[in-house]
Amino acid sequence: MLDIKITAALTKKEKPADNILGFGRYFTDHMFVMDYDLGEGWHDPRIIPYGPIALDPSAMVFHYAQELFEGLKAYRCEDGHIQLFRPDKNIERMNNTCRRMCVPEVPADDALQAIKALVDYEKDWVPHSEGTSLYIRPFIIATEPQLGVHPSKKYQFIIILSPVGSYYAGGLDPVKICIERKYVRCVKGGTGEAKVGGNYAASLLGQKEAEARGYAQVLWLDGIERKYIDEVGAMNVFFVIDKTVITPSLADGNILPGVTRRSCIELLKKWGYNVEERKISIDEVIEAHKNGKLTESFGTGTAAVISPVGEYNDNGNVMIINDGKIGPVSQKLYDNLTALQWGKIEDDMGWIVKVN
Ligand code: COI
Repeated sequence: MLDIKITAALTKKEKPADNILGFGRYFTDHMFVMDYDLGEGWHDPRIIPYGPIALDPSAMVFHYAQELFEGLKAYRCEDGHIQLFRPDKNIERMNNTCRRMCVPEVPADDALQAIKALVDYEKDWVPHSEGTSLYIRPFIIATEPQLGVHPSKKYQFIIILSPVGSYYAGGLDPVKICIERKYVRCVKGGTGEAKVGGNYAASLLGQKEAEARGYAQVLWLDGIERKYIDEVGAMNVFFVIDKTVITPSLADGNILPGVTRRSCIELLKKWGYNVEERKISIDEVIEAHKNGKLTESFGTGTAAVISPVGEYNDNGNVMIINDGKIGPVSQKLYDNLTALQWGKIEDDMGWIVKVN
């Protein structure tokens, strides 16, 4: 059990209106910080005013990118209470990433206590309007001032909060995605399944080039054969082919084990859908589209929730999916997942954790 010291901000910010939130642009009045020193472990858990952090310019995070992050959300229910969706799964993934990045793990109970304490302290920041939530961004950075390449002896675990609306400007409108044939996001044995900033830094150029052509994001193919579908970067990806829901398997360690991805698979199986987690090649998708068997595609993620894909562009060859409209599987998942998250239906999956 952490003994969290609280220092209240002297002035409070004005809260933005729900209709201008967007994603990740506004931050609450406080943040959680905890330090780690080799030999001492994690210590000094505290909630302090949100603001810049002072780090030595030689702090290892700036040079060797030893850092990792998570993303989850807090939801305001109609009766006013605030709840989290499967925070245990984010904490488990965070600690898996810690092991991959040689970062000391944060005890799961302490991480959950820290998240709940900060969200509860900032509960007035959880927005009220439909489709809005408080995005929770825990992250760990290597802070040892040292230029030798080795795991840092000092870290900070920080949690910040951001009231958010939709990740994509168009909300639930289907997004357009380019199939990435030039760059790769990761290779087998790399950090593809870890939630580290480096994966996202490596994705920026592909995304920038796709955006210049009017596309929201890119679909990453495996880094070795350039053939199998990995993920979209900000979301995992699903295809409905011949009534079977197919998503790339986690077996190669290339893709992020998304909490929303896993929840969709569990819900679909519960509803009796045929779900396959397996290697799926881009050629299979193109063929299925040609034969009229590809009826839907959608992305899943904490930020993106369920995001239908209306179009894939493969070097100029355009595949329109379901007439560019949201399909029945995506709609059913969206409706049920969001109803669970906002407490509108009973949680028969045991996924909800109340904050207050
Ligand atoms: C999330 O969905 O929480 C993510 O971390 C994806 C993205 C915003 C980078």
